[in-house]
Amino acid sequence: MQLPAPFRRLIFLALICASASFAQQGERLYKFHCAFCHGKGDDGMAANLVSPKLPHAPSDAALANIIRNGIPGTDMPASLGMTDAEIRQVATYVRALGRTAPQKVAGDAAKGQAAFDKQCRGCHMVKGSGGVMGPDLSDIGLRRSPANLKSSIVEPDANLVAGWQGITVKTKDGKSVRGIKLNEDMLTIHVRTADGKIQSIAKNQTSGIERAGAKSTMPAFKQLPAADLDNLIAYLFTLRGE
Ligand code: HEC
Ligand code: HEC
Repeated sequence: MQLPAPFRRLIFLALICASASFAQQGERLYKFHCAFCHGKGDDGMAANLVSPKLPHAPSDAALANIIRNGIPGTDMPASLGMTDAEIRQVATYVRALGRTAPQKVAGDAAKGQAAFDKQCRGCHMVKGSGGVMGPDLSDIGLRRSPANLKSSIVEPDANLVAGWQGITVKTKDGKSVRGIKLNEDMLTIHVRTADGKIQSIAKNQTSGIERAGAKSTMPAFKQLPAADLDNLIAYLFTLRGE
């Protein structure tokens, strides 16, 4: 069946309006549910969403899943009371953000890398080289906005990352083991020390356990001159897992 031309034009117009309002819906939902943490996408305190690749959301199904259920062990919450259709709309909006050009950052990435090698690489692995006392930063430029990177450097206590709790375990034979707590059950506690070794300590052999709690084991780099900080951020922002 062939519809008369005016009808076809009407249907076409209706489709355009529907897809425009679909996109607007997505933006509206985003502002309501997500902007509080993600800002405009690349200026919030949470993960950077202005990126063609989202490590936690390689597929659209994975994206819908984290919007629905959050990311366990992180501050990314499950969405409350969003319908499947709304989740699809907001996911479409997130993908559209990903197609925007990445933010320009001030600072010199080459100088930033030199500073990183001196002050940071001892704890942080980047592309297979570095220490293990902090998270691997090989794709940090995909995962964090420049604003969040800055805050992580000057104020680590406000940017704790799940799984990096510092701990000092004193043993009955007078030793003290300091590192990152890996896991712990009723009987044992596993600590990774700065040399990368994992120590497994029986709890009945301990004489005291000090937990860093809400304090990061990363020193706060508060005294960095603004230019050095910009350089570090510029370098970190280039790290996109490639
Ligand atoms: C309470 C703060 C908060 C709210 C609200 C929030 N998020 Fe998140 N989101 C986070 C944090 C923190 C992370 C980073 C988790 C991690 O990897 O440590 C994150 C991660 C993500 C990621 C993964 C990015 C990646 O790098 O793979 C996506 C996608 C995402 N959020 C989308 C959304 C959407 C869409 C909404 C609204 C429906 C939303 N978030 C609401 C805090 C929030
Ligand atoms: C003594 C080890 C140590 C040093 C030195 C160190 N960091 Fe960290 N860093 C950590 C730990 C541990 C964390 C995880 C935060 C937490 O939960 O304590 C972290 C977190 C981060 C994060 C956030 C990662 C994320 O997933 O959000 C960034 C960015 C970062 N560090 C950058 C730097 C830079 C840049 C330097 C050098 C100027 C540096 N760090 C020096 C241990 C260190």
